[in-house]
Amino acid sequence: MGERPVAVLAMRDDLVGQIFPGPVLARLTDLVDCDPAAIFTDAGAPPPALAAARILITGWESPQLDAAVLTAAPGVRLVVHAAGSVKQLTTPELFAAGVTVSSAVAVNARPVAEFTVASIVLATRRVFRYAADYRAGISRHGYPVGEDTGLYGLTVGLVGASQIGRLVLAMLADHGVELLVYDPFLTPGQAAELGATAVDLDTLCRRSDVVTVHAPELPETYRMIDERRLGLLRDGAVLVNTARGALVDTEALAARCATGRLDAVLDVTDPEPLPVGHPLLGLPNVLITPHLAGTRGRELRRFGEFVVSEVHRWLSGEPLLGRVNPDALSHSA
Ligand SMILES: NC(=O)c1ccc[n+]([C@@H]2O[C@H](COP(=O)([O-])OP(=O)(O)OC[C@H]3O[C@@H](n4cnc5c(N)ncnc54)[C@H](O)[C@@H]3O)[C@@H](O)[C@H]2O)c1
Repeated sequence: MGERPVAVLAMRDDLVGQIFPGPVLARLTDLVDCDPAAIFTDAGAPPPALAAARILITGWESPQLDAAVLTAAPGVRLVVHAAGSVKQLTTPELFAAGVTVSSAVAVNARPVAEFTVASIVLATRRVFRYAADYRAGISRHGYPVGEDTGLYGLTVGLVGASQIGRLVLAMLADHGVELLVYDPFLTPGQAAELGATAVDLDTLCRRSDVVTVHAPELPETYRMIDERRLGLLRDGAVLVNTARGALVDTEALAARCATGRLDAVLDVTDPEPLPVGHPLLGLPNVLITPHLAGTRGRELRRFGEFVVSEVHRWLSGEPLLGRVNPDALSHSA
């Protein structure tokens, strides 16, 4: 295997061991020459191996792949990103040079979708309110009837048929819910194939018991869930945001949650983090988490397994699973 291509890792160095634990690293180094200690993290101090690299394996905190990097790594033909979005990583120069880029965005979508579905289940059971009462010494044991609880029979509206959104749709398919979706790039036929009905955003807000946000942060999505649209939601509706805080008007949402009219689960906020003492942090009907829905901990290994599989596919001439289409980046996360 003397002709194995050289691959260089470009990511935060303390992640390497978790993304490539021993057995995964062994599978990678069966395919390529890769020194896990020679990591490219500082554009001003590239490791010598970069000059011979054909493959860059990037991740969180990789240097941006601009013209200077291409000059330092003239032989690079493949970039495999062991993380989600490549928007901050890639440049027009990289694509113009004909470099193939693959991203583990679909791998990163899974934990976010799992978190979203878990949140929808718990929020529609009003678990956060009941747990807060319990902590406060208020017993609500027993079998209350006629309450606005439970997911079965509700309408769930997804904003953005993204990779995460599509997984959420698939996971909700057998929960006995009606599914609506708003995505300007999705046809009604495509929505139907996903098991959902395509509607405009106002209709989605009016008809949904749960609104879950999965669109990217773009100028046109800034505060798309604004004061007026929050006003379209029914009393008792739940808003779940695992996308980006800027898509929702935080203060308008906080005001509605404070009156108890809406419940919310927010993994992302604007600003992020929320300042200490922000009203949302103290509400019993709101769960705020510190942007933790994406890949973490032992899930990082999935990124490494994805890299090995993509490198193997590329070396075998097979189509890549995570190939990035540069033309789609403008409306992607
Ligand atoms: N909480 C976390 O840890 C975490 C982790 C990963 C991703 N995210 C966020 O989740 C969201 C979805 O990520 P993804 O990788 O699944 O996205 P993606 O790139 O796969 O899809 C984006 C989707 O949004 C649609 N879209 C574009 N403009 C729109 C608009 N104006 N209104 C509605 N839809 C629009 C596109 O057609 C596409 O279907 C993003 O905001 C991303 O930043 C959060």
